[in-house]
Amino acid sequence: MILGSGLGNFAEGMNIARRISYKSIPNFPLSTVKGHKGELLFGTMANKQIVCMQGRFHYYEGYSMQQVTFPVRVMKALGVRVLIVTNASGAVNPEFETGDIMIIKDHINTMPNPLIGPNDERLGVRFPPMSTVYDKQLRDKAKTIARELGITLREGVYIGTTGPSFETPAEYKYFRTIGADTVGMSTVPEVIVASHSGMRVFGMSVISNVFREDNQQDCTHEEVLEGVAKAGNKMSRIVERLIAQTL
Ligand code: HPA
Repeated sequence: MILGSGLGNFAEGMNIARRISYKSIPNFPLSTVKGHKGELLFGTMANKQIVCMQGRFHYYEGYSMQQVTFPVRVMKALGVRVLIVTNASGAVNPEFETGDIMIIKDHINTMPNPLIGPNDERLGVRFPPMSTVYDKQLRDKAKTIARELGITLREGVYIGTTGPSFETPAEYKYFRTIGADTVGMSTVPEVIVASHSGMRVFGMSVISNVFREDNQQDCTHEEVLEGVAKAGNKMSRIVERLIAQTL
């Protein structure tokens, strides 16, 4: 699992056997963003073995795409088969509201591709397909679980940008026009690498802010963390059950 901005609390539901600070892992970058803790947790949830990144790396922190996605390669080498990624994002779908949660069914990448460079055939193919990245079975299961729990769940397309600036109104409108529902500054690089290495992927976004043409307000990082706090618990409940029932 990779936990996004302000979503570190999810780890409270884990039976933690071991915590390793990123500082003490060779070649691991360090989290520089508020709301990201910087520990790799090992343990179980619903009797399933979990390795969980409490805090992730972003391209805008100045890391290379290889550094941003290095933990995914480490997870693969450890034997991880399913990657669950979470993030905070801004909605460009006007039907969405702050505090909503969305299953990612597809993405649009506007960042440099993390697979640029020589390809190590032992890790994956040179030209990996991206047509079925977000596992349909896991998405369907999550929808059923949300219904059982009475939680409203959205499903849509996430567009990944480098950040760190938030979008101009013209950019938000553009992203909506080209088919996005949410926009954020993470997730896509890790998902591309996970998919390249043959892992199943499940992704969820918490909506921390909504772009509305008729009511434009500046987005701030504090607003993002507040929006996420409203919804983190809903997301944890769904993911916990998903892990218990499916993996
Ligand atoms: N844009 C980009 N990234 C984000 C946003 C946003 O509006 N909200 C949270 N992460």
